[in-house]
Formats: sequence, C-alpha cells, structure tokens
Amino acid sequence: MKRRVGILISGRGSNMVALAEAARDPAYPAAIGVVIANDPTAAGLALAAARGIPTRTIPHRAFGRDRAAHEAAIDAALAAEEIEVVCLAGYMRLLTPFLVGRYAGRMLNIHPSLLPVFPGLNTHARALAAGVKFHGCTVHLVTEAMDEGPILAQAAVPVRPDDDEASLASRVLAEEHRLYTAALARFLSGDAGRAPTTALHNPLPDLLAAP
Ligand code: GAR
Repeated sequence: MKRRVGILISGRGSNMVALAEAARDPAYPAAIGVVIANDPTAAGLALAAARGIPTRTIPHRAFGRDRAAHEAAIDAALAAEEIEVVCLAGYMRLLTPFLVGRYAGRMLNIHPSLLPVFPGLNTHARALAAGVKFHGCTVHLVTEAMDEGPILAQAAVPVRPDDDEASLASRVLAEEHRLYTAALARFLSGDAGRAPTTALHNPLPDLLAAP
C-alpha cells in the first residue's frame, strides 16, 4: 500500500522529479499526493503538473512576516491531500516549530553536503574552499534546528582537482536523486534504523576497497 507523500519545493524541482519518477513504479512505497511551492516562479511546478501531480502555490510573500499563517496554509493544503509524509526538496524557507511539530518524525529533507559539515547555503563553494577530498549529500529527518535532524542516509562523491562549483554540484546532484528515492523507500518500509546509513547506490565503498 502506497503512502501519500507531499513535496515542498522552491525552485528547479529536480529532486521532486526524481521522487515522482520513482513513485510511478507500482512497487515503490510512495505516491506523490501534492507538490507545494512557496515561489510562484518555481520551475518544478510545471514539471509536477506535467506528471499529473496536483500542485499548489502558497507564496510566502503573500503572508508578509506572518510565517505561522503561511505554514498554516501549507498544513491545510497537505491535510486536504491526506499527506502522511513530507519531503522537502530544495525548499529554501526555514520552517517554524509549528510545521516541524505537525510532521515530527515524518518530514525528510535533502541537503547538499555530508552533514554535519557545511549546513546552510553555498555548500559546494565551501567544500572547494575547505579543500575536502570527499563531498556529498544527506537525507535527514527535519527537526527545529536547521540541517541537524537524525541522518537517514548519505552518499559521498570524490572532489576532483579540476572541479569548479558547477562540476561538483552536478556530481552531487546525481547522487541526490539516487539517494533521496532510495532513502524515502527505505524510510517508508520502516527499516531506516536497520539499514546501512551510508553509500546507498554509491561507488565509494568500492573505491575504498580497491587495493
Ligand atoms: C538541491 O541541491 C538540494 O539539496 C538543495 O537545493 C537543491 C534543490 O535542487 N537544498 C538545500 O540546499 C536545502 N538546504 P532541486 O530543486 O533541483 O531539487
């Protein structure tokens, strides 16, 4: 039985598309019930609509500084679609304890770094500036502290000497799409605690094992 998942986006929506494509498989444990954007210009809205997924635009600007009212509108839209689990996919607004509390233990986020390093923005530029040899992405449960919830899965990529921000971002993004779909499936199957928490569909173990 598929569980109803809602996805919150702010822009491009490539992680949302990855989840939506995975959910077309009858065996995948999620059905995408709604895609909600806080930005009316989010390109992902059209991508969701083209896949027959209901979309809602709930612009934060319309609510001024009233973040609680904005989140109440999101909560109502999620409830109207009987959403059980929420996936943040490039949703670039900080959430208040209200919405985080409503979906405690059933709201996931993908972040483009190997948390706990590089929380926040500009993660690829910061990874390059720090000279790290591995970078990657993390799927975690959302808690009140930004980018700090329990880690469900991580995927690592090597940083190459000739990388720039764009090349590194693109290598990480390919891993994001694989990791988020795998981590959501595992989470919904209820074995997130028992599963390996690293390197889902990731070449790193092979690299480390090589002589
Ligand atoms: C992704 O790289 C995602 O990890 C990141 O925004 C991008 C959205 O791309 N999220 C964050 O930085 C959240 N702190 P997408 O819209 O194509 O999925």
